Parts: sequence; C-alpha cells; structure tokens
Amino acid sequence: MKVSVMGHGTVGSGVVEVILTNNEKIVSRNGLDSLEISHILDLRDFDVPYKDKFTKDFNVILNDDETSVVVETMGGLHPAYEFVKSCLEAGKSVCTSNKELVAAFGDELLDIAREKNVNFLFEASVGGGIPIIRPITKCLAANEFRKVAGILNGTTNFILSKMIKENMSLEQALKIAQDNGYAEKDPTNDVEGHDACRKICILASLCFGTHVYPDEIATQGITGISLFDVEYAKSCGRVIKLIGSAEKQPDGRICARVGPALVNGESPLASVDGVFNAVMVDGNAVDEVYFIGKGAGKLATASAVVADVIDCAVNGSTLRSYRWEKHVDGKLVPADEVATKMYVRGFSSDESIKEKISSVFGNVDFLTRANAPKDEIAFVTGSDVQSVIKQKLEKLDGFDIQSLIRLADF
Ligand code: HSE
Repeated sequence: MKVSVMGHGTVGSGVVEVILTNNEKIVSRNGLDSLEISHILDLRDFDVPYKDKFTKDFNVILNDDETSVVVETMGGLHPAYEFVKSCLEAGKSVCTSNKELVAAFGDELLDIAREKNVNFLFEASVGGGIPIIRPITKCLAANEFRKVAGILNGTTNFILSKMIKENMSLEQALKIAQDNGYAEKDPTNDVEGHDACRKICILASLCFGTHVYPDEIATQGITGISLFDVEYAKSCGRVIKLIGSAEKQPDGRICARVGPALVNGESPLASVDGVFNAVMVDGNAVDEVYFIGKGAGKLATASAVVADVIDCAVNGSTLRSYRWEKHVDGKLVPADEVATKMYVRGFSSDESIKEKISSVFGNVDFLTRANAPKDEIAFVTGSDVQSVIKQKLEKLDGFDIQSLIRLADF
C-alpha cells in the first residue's frame, strides 16, 4: 500500500520515521504486501535521506492514483480542511493528528468519508500515543457513557509538574516543552486550554453522539495558577491539574468544560505527571476505565497515526470510520449552571472575614499553608451551583479574590 504524508513537522517526520524504521515488522505482522511512502508535502526543504519524496504541490498527492491513504499532520484549519476534504472526495482515506480540524469539521468530514466509502481516522488527535478513540468506539461500544474526563494536554501537564515539583517558572518549563516538540505551533493554545478544549470536543462528540464545537465550552488555562494554590491544594490532599471533562447530567444534557481543577490525591489522575496524559471513561456497563500514556511528542503521536494507516491497509475498503451526528442546539448545559465545590483564595484586611464567609456560605473548610500573609484566606466551599457560588463571593465586600478553582469529583 502507498501512503502520502502532508506536513513534515514534528508529527509528520515522526510518521515517516516510524514507517521507515518499523517497516519490516509492520508489513509482516499485518500480512501486508508492502507499506511505502509515495510523497511528502511540505513547503520547506529538508536534507533527509528520503528528500526525493518531497513535493510542494498538493495536486501531486491528490492526483496520484497509487496513494490510497493520506496522512495529514500539517496542523491548523486551513488549508488542512480543504486538502483533507479533497482527498476524501477523491476516494482516499485520511489519517490525521489534527485535533483542531476534527473538532471543527469532524461531522462533515466523517459524512464525506462514509459517502465515499473511505476512512477518516484520527486516533492521534486525542492523547497523542494513547489508544483512546478506538477503545471508546470499539472496546467500549456496549456502554452508555456517563462521563469522559482527563489530562488532555501534555505541555501544560509538563509545565504544572515542573512548577510543582521543581519550583520552575511557567516560562522556563514551557521552553523545555517546546524544545521537546510537545507544544503547539502557537503555545498559547496549550497554556490557555484551547488544545485540551478541542480534544474534549472530540471525546464528547464520540461519547455522546453529536458534534460539540470548541466555542461552546467554557475554557480556562493554567496561567492564573500560583505556587500558593499548589500548596493549599496539597494541604487538603489534592493536586492541581488542567482537566477537560464532559459529563451527562440527570436531564440528559452534557456539561463540558476545560480548566484547572483540584484532583483528589488518591485519583489515578493525580500521579500522572510530565508529558503524560490520562483519560477516564465512565460507562454504565464497564464503570471507570483509565488510559494513560505519552500525550505528546514526535514518535508517541506518530505511533497512533501509523496505527490508523495500518488499519486502512489491513482492512482495505471496509469502513473503519466513526460516527456522530451534526451539532444540536441545547445539548450542552453551561458549566456555571452545574453544582460543584470550589477552592477560593483571596485577601482581606477585615478581621471578621472568616465569620462573614461562614455566614454567606454555611460550612466551609478553611485551609492553611506555611508562611501565608496574615490577610490571605483560602477555603473550600460546599457543593453549590457554580454561578451561585460566584454570586455569594460578590457579597464578601473587600475580599480580593486571587484564585477560584473547581474541585474535581475524582
Ligand atoms: N501540544 C499538544 C500537547 C500536543 O501538549 O498535548 C499533542 O496534542
């Protein structure tokens, strides 16, 4: 089988490396005649042993009848969307790592793939090297899903781990993540939670059956987190992680969000550090299942892309594509309307502030940390609708809020 690769960046070059390095094993283990790379599309020049395969013209791939599978590792929406759509319409299967593309156009591209009897596969789009898309759609297919949640961004998990364990600054840790090829082209997409948002959209669409768009999801990144919050979290047996989650509510709507959360220290997610991601899937038959592995990086992500390519090669024209319906208005419930507990940190010179907090919130757990300034107050609220918690905080005159982080229920 012949495959072409669009985009020779971190992941694309990893795909080529895995196909070339493991070629014999892949071919023999899967009973293939061969697995060859026809063309590699990139506007840049590369001095690599396979440089004769490069083209700068997309039409070379589109019009190559021998290329039956195209890998898209260009990233971004345009021209990735136009190229992928053209490939599918031309009867070529596409395997992509591009979560932005799947989160924005997944429903449409899946429809075209089905119509043309080809595959549109995206195992690498969530969790890097972790098998998660195929397990959700195949191994867990018997379940009604209740929740999917996890650490979905390797860069921010790497940064948080470095901040927490080595006292490193966010900027220093980000630089290392970039040097290791974990970060997005524009790393604000990692740090501000947009990358995790795209991934939870894909997981929510798969688990709950209709397309969820990134702009529907309340998204917060890690830039507001301080080492003081880390200490307070520790004082109540919790760890701060950037969590993406989508959960079915009693009325059938889905609450999806991305933001920092205080995770229980005993949760399997609490000890997932560095570039590792972890996804928890909760189904009504299986209960909670955890998937943990390298969530970013050249070869880990390439491992998932090449697995999709192999799936296309082994199964030929048998459809392997996933399915979800078009977006439906009203399917999501805003995170603000759902009950949660919240960690609050702020400053107040009012000596009676603790009494006032207790009178507004009822029972709260006040937290302590070593060397805290006298006017710093931190506490955890009881469970209440998030917008109600915010309204109650507004009643605390002169309380200068520094941090407001939700407690995960895991
Ligand atoms: N920038 C992403 C991350 C790459 O750090 O997780 C993998 O999607």
